[in-house]
Amino acid sequence: MHPLDPFGFGQPGFRKHARRFDPADLARDLRGLVVAITGANSGLGLAATRALAARGATVWMLCRDLQKAEAARADLTGDTRLARLDVASRASIDALDIPTPDVLVHNAGQLASHHDVVEGLERTVATHVVGPWRLGHRVRAATTVWVSSGGMYTQRLDVARLLPAVGAPAPGRFDGVATYAHAKRAQVVLARRLGQHAMHPGWADSPGVAASLPRFHRLTRSILRTPEQGADTIVWLAVTRPPTPAFWFDRAVAPEHVFPWTKHDPAEEDALLARLLAGPAG
Ligand SMILES: NC(=O)c1ccc[n+]([C@@H]2O[C@H](COP(=O)([O-])OP(=O)(O)OC[C@H]3O[C@@H](n4cnc5c(N)ncnc54)[C@H](OP(=O)(O)O)[C@@H]3O)[C@@H](O)[C@H]2O)c1
Repeated sequence: MHPLDPFGFGQPGFRKHARRFDPADLARDLRGLVVAITGANSGLGLAATRALAARGATVWMLCRDLQKAEAARADLTGDTRLARLDVASRASIDALDIPTPDVLVHNAGQLASHHDVVEGLERTVATHVVGPWRLGHRVRAATTVWVSSGGMYTQRLDVARLLPAVGAPAPGRFDGVATYAHAKRAQVVLARRLGQHAMHPGWADSPGVAASLPRFHRLTRSILRTPEQGADTIVWLAVTRPPTPAFWFDRAVAPEHVFPWTKHDPAEEDALLARLLAGPAG
């Protein structure tokens, strides 16, 4: 075990796990497959777009900044299309007009440094939980993949904290890392309840990690996965579309909990679904 990679989330872990990968899994002609990926202009989303388009898939890049997305798209080969989508905005989701994809990847994400409210919701929760929930209902792909995070292992689902009542005061001290990890926990719960796939990419070097976690990035840089390695399980799920939905890491089913104190009452999941069905921002 590498001292900087005790959980196998880094590059040493990827290399070890990749020994059991079947190279035939990705050696496929994907012509005819349509995939839509949110946040496809950077990091893992861009790496997944590149890998899928190179194999013949049509990839819809759903991005909030079209200029940035056009620049990212310039060096891609294959059939990529671009549509504007701010996944944190209900209006933007409602305005999205793309053909129904075979696979939808909820990849867009960010770790916020301060408390920010968008359309009545804290931005992290709007981006990772409520937005994808709404987008999934609008797009209705046959296969859906939620890109969660190993950080979710530190959090217990708590709906009152995730989606505070409308009008509740903002937290005195905003903890961006905990808020992010909690939203990622909610993604895994939602994926399971909706019969969809979720995965976590380990630790990959991306513009998002460098910008939002500079200290972590500096300390772990030497062992971080490449964006391609971080995106590997996203690509594998989109290509192979396993019939049984699960939570995945490095092409294998992963546990949803590693610490007993993160286990929640099933009623908490019902409460999450009820809040989302009722319209979380009131
Ligand atoms: N890299 C890792 O080690 C790691 C680990 C665990 C989980 N993840 C997850 O992997 C996913 C990709 O992250 P990354 O590391 O590749 O980060 P990244 O390089 O920052 O890419 C994130 C992408 O999401 C987009 N995005 C953010 N908010 C959005 C919104 N409201 N609407 C539409 N797009 C939005 C960003 O768009 P802009 O370019 O316009 O900002 C960007 O394209 C995220 O869900 C992240 O939480 C990554």
